[in-house]
Amino acid sequence: MKENNPGFFRDFIDVWDDGAQRDAAFITLGVEALLPGYYGNLLDAPPPFPVRKGDRILDIGCGWGRVLKPVLDLGGNAIGLDISHKMLLAAQNHLAKHNHEVRLARGDATRLPFADESFDMAYSLLVLQHLSKDNGKEVFAEVHRVLRKGGEAYIRVPSRFAPENLLFAFLQFVSIHIFRVKDPIRMRFYRLGEIRKACRTLFQSCEITAHEFRPPWNFHTRKTWHIIIIPRFLHRPLRRLSDTIEALANGKWPFLKHFGVTLMIHVVK
Ligand SMILES: C[S@@+](CC[C@H](N)C(=O)[O-])C[C@H]1O[C@@H](n2cnc3c(N)ncnc32)[C@H](O)[C@@H]1O
Repeated sequence: MKENNPGFFRDFIDVWDDGAQRDAAFITLGVEALLPGYYGNLLDAPPPFPVRKGDRILDIGCGWGRVLKPVLDLGGNAIGLDISHKMLLAAQNHLAKHNHEVRLARGDATRLPFADESFDMAYSLLVLQHLSKDNGKEVFAEVHRVLRKGGEAYIRVPSRFAPENLLFAFLQFVSIHIFRVKDPIRMRFYRLGEIRKACRTLFQSCEITAHEFRPPWNFHTRKTWHIIIIPRFLHRPLRRLSDTIEALANGKWPFLKHFGVTLMIHVVK
């Protein structure tokens, strides 16, 4: 991964290695792992995209195998790639428990260690936000390179204008620029326009859907991230409201897409 500071790469990997050992579920999902009343059981959810049996599939930034497991259950011929050795060990254990033998590779999403046109499908969930925007563009180019013609990819990123993400970005700005906290895996937020611009030149089609229209749950600082400020009895009604807004945003009111917490980018080569 390109960075000017040579120590950055090591620090970046250390955070993921360390997180994989302490609490892989939390480090990959954040507060969402704590709110089953709202999200359901995300730790064993179906993949948020269709899977065709036998397709050669690449999971970029597979973490502990949360999504690889249901992809393999559905008959996908999947490979998991991650930059963290410890995450890959966690994935191997998780998948072995479910009787899956899976190929795992250690590597960097900006330099995929695979031949051109070697996959029918690729996906990358909640990874690009931790890379610089320039590195993000490199990942798009690499995804394009390793997909066969007509192959598809699904890439999920957090969006710029969701209230939750605006609050997160503000607190992150304060912690990095005022309190000088070093955070190698800090979050980047994406606008619809910049995604379309990055994809337009590479892919024959790019469709973006928006998901999760919820109020901020917590204050994302080291000491307060786990304090959920929305009372539990409101979680289910908020889920229903979010689903309604999501349907409108991805249907007749597309301007609402700007306010979804996450964006799913679906591209076809
Ligand atoms: C937030 S977790 C998401 C894991 C998984 N995709 C999921 O949704 O459960 C991000 C993962 O991306 C991996 N990662 C971060 N930067 C990467 C890079 N440049 N190349 C490959 N993997 C990377 C991390 O090690 C971590 O496992």
